[in-house]
Amino acid sequence: MMNYSAVRSDPPDTPDNNPAIRADALSVVRGTRPVLRDLDFTVPRGQITGLLGPSGCGKTTLMRAIVGTQAKVTGTLDVLGRPAGHPTLRTRIGYVTQAPSVYDDLTIRQNLAYFAAILDPGHAAADRRHENVTRAIADVDLTSHADALAGNLSGGQRSRVSLAVALLGTPELLVLDEPTVGLDPVLRRDLWNLFHSIAASRGATLLISSHVMDEAERCHRLLLMREGRILADDTPDVLRTRTNSETVEAAFLHLVDEAVAAAGAKETMR
Ligand SMILES: Nc1ncnc2c1ncn2[C@@H]1O[C@H](COP(=O)(O)OP(=O)(O)O)[C@@H](O)[C@H]1O
Ligand SMILES: [Mg+2]
Repeated sequence: MMNYSAVRSDPPDTPDNNPAIRADALSVVRGTRPVLRDLDFTVPRGQITGLLGPSGCGKTTLMRAIVGTQAKVTGTLDVLGRPAGHPTLRTRIGYVTQAPSVYDDLTIRQNLAYFAAILDPGHAAADRRHENVTRAIADVDLTSHADALAGNLSGGQRSRVSLAVALLGTPELLVLDEPTVGLDPVLRRDLWNLFHSIAASRGATLLISSHVMDEAERCHRLLLMREGRILADDTPDVLRTRTNSETVEAAFLHLVDEAVAAAGAKETMR
């Protein structure tokens, strides 16, 4: 088994005790189906929280609710001290979707300049945009490739370009939807190291989803999801200890069994 604990940085002190995200009785219906069911959780600031669960459990829906693009959300959902979707949150949140758009016929720098112009338009902002673009490219370690066409990049480099786009507005909260999907183990490790350096150097909060349980070991905190519910909201260490498991994957399976047994017991009592 791969043990990632050694490379996991300690969570920084959080001077601001308000969580980055607070959900209370949060539910979402898509079409006529309840997709998120009565979620209560918090995401602390300045740390990396992993949102883990199998495909279809509701990770993307939850992220869309957090960034304010999901319809039919009920309950309370506060993000950086404001209700989710509040206009002032637009520049404070960076969001990378599951299928991020990078233009193949533009260079890395041109891609970023394009998104920077949407985010911060106008002739007067040209110098600031140039600075932000250069810094975002440096933050994801692509300075030496800045003038390469995006179409010629590897999968891992493309993921880093998408991340750079999300970093343009200097967001306090980064929401990354399955950023490591399809990458080989070495690139996944490099990308997780990059997430940690962003959390440490910018003091940003990162919410990162994955359906690969071994990525859980790289997070400060975890939200484990199944079928639209949160099974656990804890640190990897506490989860493993509490369930007497060696890995977060084993802990997850243990919690699933518990949930199934509890549902069965309820059924028998009817
Ligand atoms: N546009 C939609 N209309 C109705 N149901 C949807 C829609 N998009 C997703 N769903 C359903 O919502 C559930 C959660 O999906 P999603 O949030 O994408 O999960 P995940 O990101 O964990 O794979 C799934 O069961 C999916 O079928
Ligand atoms: Mg998804």
